[in-house]
Amino acid sequence: MTQNKKKLWGGRFQEKASSVLEKIGESISFDHKLYKEDIQGSIAHARMLTAIGILSGEECARLEKALAQILGEIEEGKLEFKPELEDIHMHIESRLTELIGETGKKLHTARSRNDQVTQDVRLFILNQGKEILESVVSLRRAFYEKAKRSVDVILPGYTHLQVAQPIRASQYLLSWFWALERDQELFRFALGASAELALGAGAMAGVNYPTDREILRKELGLSKISHNSMDAVSSRDHILQFLFAGVQFMIHASRICEDIILYSSQEFGILRLPDSLTTGSSIMPQKKNPDIAELIRGKAGRVIGNLNHVLVMLKGLPSTYNRDLQEDKLALFDSIETIRISLEGIRAMVEGWVWVPERAESSLKNGFATATDLADFLVGVKNVPFRTAHELVGTLVGVCVEQKKTLFDLSETERKKISEFFVGQEYEDAVSLSLSADKKISYGGTSRKRQEEQLKIALESLEEAENLRL
Ligand code: ARG
Repeated sequence: MTQNKKKLWGGRFQEKASSVLEKIGESISFDHKLYKEDIQGSIAHARMLTAIGILSGEECARLEKALAQILGEIEEGKLEFKPELEDIHMHIESRLTELIGETGKKLHTARSRNDQVTQDVRLFILNQGKEILESVVSLRRAFYEKAKRSVDVILPGYTHLQVAQPIRASQYLLSWFWALERDQELFRFALGASAELALGAGAMAGVNYPTDREILRKELGLSKISHNSMDAVSSRDHILQFLFAGVQFMIHASRICEDIILYSSQEFGILRLPDSLTTGSSIMPQKKNPDIAELIRGKAGRVIGNLNHVLVMLKGLPSTYNRDLQEDKLALFDSIETIRISLEGIRAMVEGWVWVPERAESSLKNGFATATDLADFLVGVKNVPFRTAHELVGTLVGVCVEQKKTLFDLSETERKKISEFFVGQEYEDAVSLSLSADKKISYGGTSRKRQEEQLKIALESLEEAENLRL
């Protein structure tokens, strides 16, 4: 018997498979990750075949027992993976036949690897995605808890990376809390897309048996059944949707990390990471580097690349299954691992960093962070038109820069030369750093009252997410 004869699909082949075919064709080196879902799908399939009278109850019991044994063997690392057996589906099927002979060979009735593999991946996204979703919610919790403790910390807010206005640190933290809420919703949507039954589509046209897809749907705990067998085996939209969500999250993750890297640098210095989350340099003894944040920023590129990979792979494919699709798993698996570790890394940093209010204060002073408040004082209290107020405060800042002073230590004589209103307690209050935040009274703003309101709304949203079970 030639080697290809030994393949599970080898009936029509005379020649031995070439080594390049085996090397390029194998996917067991990565799709072994699908073993649990493959077995889950096979058990559902066996039960359905039994319900429609294709397998006897006794055969089904033997299959289930053997599948449970194979699950254990794989988990204990006892099943040897062989490239010549191509993929996880073939490994499990051939082990099944080794264990229970003819009955094992019956399992693939009314099934193709084309509907099998897409089902496995959908189940995999559901299983892993639920964990990721939970980690996103936990990360939101971490941001919320830190925000609750940071209401009294006043930080410089930046635009163009230049000091803009004073903000409460809670305001900053909750800004990421809400970005993560949108990621959570996208992940949830992606999981919904994966909760669809593809099994029963066969190779692409449906199968010659009265397959009961409703039984399969229930067995697998899915919410819907694909309406078209060709669509079922073609579509990788569930992967795309998961990756869209993953990319949005990684972009947020990367930006959070960029903030951490900047804010913990000597130049900004407004937050300090714990030693346990930073590294030293092999040559420069003083260094304390934010490697976790840099790595996550780097990893974001990988997930964006993975989405691109699947998009480009799909764009020119003819209907329906094409072997190109085998590559989808590499992008998916790598993204899942990357998203998972990034969630963990950011959470550790958020929980661990401490604010450095003294540095924040000196940045605020040196950056004239309350210049806008002073202009608003001229407008609101002194009835000066805003454009004129802007001009006067701009001039004042110019003089400060020239004299190497801040709004707080420029002499009153100098200030009066620019405006008669730049005097006394009114002026002090107008430029005060500690009063500035509480002047931001609009909904969503950084005043204490609005922060307390936002914290309440955030908690409601968080608890709703925590209580929601998929
Ligand atoms: N390993 C394959 C994949 O991941 C399984 C499907 C194979 N189907 C086929 N017609 N050769 O896509």
